[in-house]
Amino acid sequence: MAKTYNVVTFGCQMNERDSETLAGMLEEMGYVYEDNFKEADVCILNTCSVRENADKHFFGVLGQLKNPHEQNPGRITCVCGCMMQQQHIIDTLKAKYSWVDLVFGTHNIQNFPELFKNVRDEKKKLVEVWSDAEAIAEGLPAKRNYDFKAYVSIMQGCNNFCTYCIVPYTRGRERSRRPEDILEEIRCLAKSGCKEICLLGQNVNSYGRAKSVPGTYHYDDEKGSVLDDGSLNLDFAGLIREIDKIEGIERIRFMTSHPKDISDELIACFRDCKHLCHMIHLPVQSGSDVVLKKMNRHYDRAWYFDKIDRLRAACPDIAISTDIIVGFPGETEEDFQGTLDLVEKVRYDSAFTFIYSVRKDTPAEKYEDQIPEELKHERFNRLLKLIHEIQEEKSKQYQDKVLKVLVEGPSKTNEEVLTGRTESNMTVDFTGDPDLIGKIVDVKIVKAQTFSLYGELI
Ligand code: 5AD
Ligand code: SF4
Repeated sequence: MAKTYNVVTFGCQMNERDSETLAGMLEEMGYVYEDNFKEADVCILNTCSVRENADKHFFGVLGQLKNPHEQNPGRITCVCGCMMQQQHIIDTLKAKYSWVDLVFGTHNIQNFPELFKNVRDEKKKLVEVWSDAEAIAEGLPAKRNYDFKAYVSIMQGCNNFCTYCIVPYTRGRERSRRPEDILEEIRCLAKSGCKEICLLGQNVNSYGRAKSVPGTYHYDDEKGSVLDDGSLNLDFAGLIREIDKIEGIERIRFMTSHPKDISDELIACFRDCKHLCHMIHLPVQSGSDVVLKKMNRHYDRAWYFDKIDRLRAACPDIAISTDIIVGFPGETEEDFQGTLDLVEKVRYDSAFTFIYSVRKDTPAEKYEDQIPEELKHERFNRLLKLIHEIQEEKSKQYQDKVLKVLVEGPSKTNEEVLTGRTESNMTVDFTGDPDLIGKIVDVKIVKAQTFSLYGELI
């Protein structure tokens, strides 16, 4: 009988995309997918380190693999992803989690098959984590989660060093893929029936701009591409315009944008590009200029409001979402009021709110004025209440409207009902034939709730 595998993914869309690659590699080696990660012969845990909760969650899940390992010593447990780029995590794994067979990091995912075969065939344990990133490997296999929508990673790493954030340390320096490689991947996806793509990067607005990693795509306005191979000279807006021409791709999304780098050229894409979804995720993090400075975000409230105004001028119905951190060190009540005020003014369609969590070896870890937990929670709740009020009001605007919905499959809560997503990425449930899965259909909204919409197929 064929051996089985499962990949458990923690964290962001980047990790989801990496897990698709790992699954593709295992399938190429003959393994078949097993839904229950505790029963699979090979289990990979792809970790996230962006907040403390993610760390805790990972150790909890890893703990659940102890018994399966004792019952079936032949099974192989692998751990990878952002957490593995931190030495203290590796030390903990070695000291306390004897059932882990293979550890690798974010920079050597392309070597997984080789590392894995080594562990499996030689029956040994292996830790191989690279500290530096190379150019992004091309041509890796992938087992995509969906046929009709796909994540396409356009760049990796981050050079921004926001003072609270661990990503620049775990994902390394910013590096971009060649435009040709990205366009080719999207053309292939389109040919196989994919309708929606989401371009991924920690800071997509600086696509092609970072110079730091030799051998990776970089261009400058005057000299063109540094790759001496006839590479196109495209910035992010240029890349979107090229993708917009690819036949079959009906929806283009991207994430994440850093407000400091959002260009007028990109904003113009919302006006001009037929397939670019009218939505943007634009993390603000705080509504206080003092806090933004301490976070090293390189913009202030006025800059952010200006970008929002320009986006809405170019695309009046654009849906805007954000990330906000509450309780950053030194945040006063006045600073927090600034965040509430900004949220009131921008009126987000949705917002992800996070309680500040100390990340080891980041600058903010050393800031002395850490906020007490109760106060962080109290502010968090106040912010959430406001965000939900606005979201409810925004959602009501959809009542009786006819929206285009990409049908994803049966609803998680009710098998009889289909669920899909609007252009603004809201979920809509409606009754319809399962043949519609993967198609874009018109749905009239009959019940608009804060987090979900219910509709009737037109
Ligand atoms: N504490 C809380 N939230 C954080 N984020 C990143 N680092 C931290 C941290 N240390 C949030 C930011 C980012 C999102 C992905 O996670 O809001 O945009
Ligand atoms: Fe982290 Fe800031 Fe980079 Fe986003 S832009 S990944 S928050 S350092």
